[in-house]
Amino acid sequence: MKKIVVLFSGEGRNLHNIIKKLHNKECKVVCAITNNPKAKGLINLPIKSEVLRHNDFNSRKEHDKALVKLIGRYKPDLTVLAGFMRILTPEFTKNIKAINLHPSLLPKHKGARAIQDSFDDKDTEAGVTVHWVEDELDGGEIIVQERFKKSNNETLESFTCKIKELEYKLLPQAIVKILYES
Ligand code: GRF
Repeated sequence: MKKIVVLFSGEGRNLHNIIKKLHNKECKVVCAITNNPKAKGLINLPIKSEVLRHNDFNSRKEHDKALVKLIGRYKPDLTVLAGFMRILTPEFTKNIKAINLHPSLLPKHKGARAIQDSFDDKDTEAGVTVHWVEDELDGGEIIVQERFKKSNNETLESFTCKIKELEYKLLPQAIVKILYES
């Protein structure tokens, strides 16, 4: 069975969703790695996890070097960034085959405020993107993207729910597609 490693920093809802939908079915989630020892996603995690605190390193490059080494130990077919809130250096991007989940219709609304920004803009549609991780933040080649129509009486809360639901559907689909169709 193919193997994946998942990187996350906070709530880990996408991590838990991937485990629920794919683990020991479509692939093995061999490890979940976080840079944040207080990440909520570590709670009730039914698979192996590792914490690699970025504060323990002198530079981004040093942290990424250690991260690459750690991921390498698990020999994954693919690394999945699901809410991994770090700007990555070429040390990572040149050495790890990775995809990232982003809550907007890239190339629109790169960065950490994507949900708020796509809620605020004048567009009639919003959506979610899965893309390859490359040097530029949220700038790698798009793998899949799905959109929905924004409704007139949308609140930020209902909008966020729609984004999250779409993420839970799209990311597992993208992982399977990459592992078995490419
Ligand atoms: C998701 O909205 C993802 O698109 C973004 O960070 C969020 C992570 O949420 N990159 P969670 O940790 O999976 O709950």
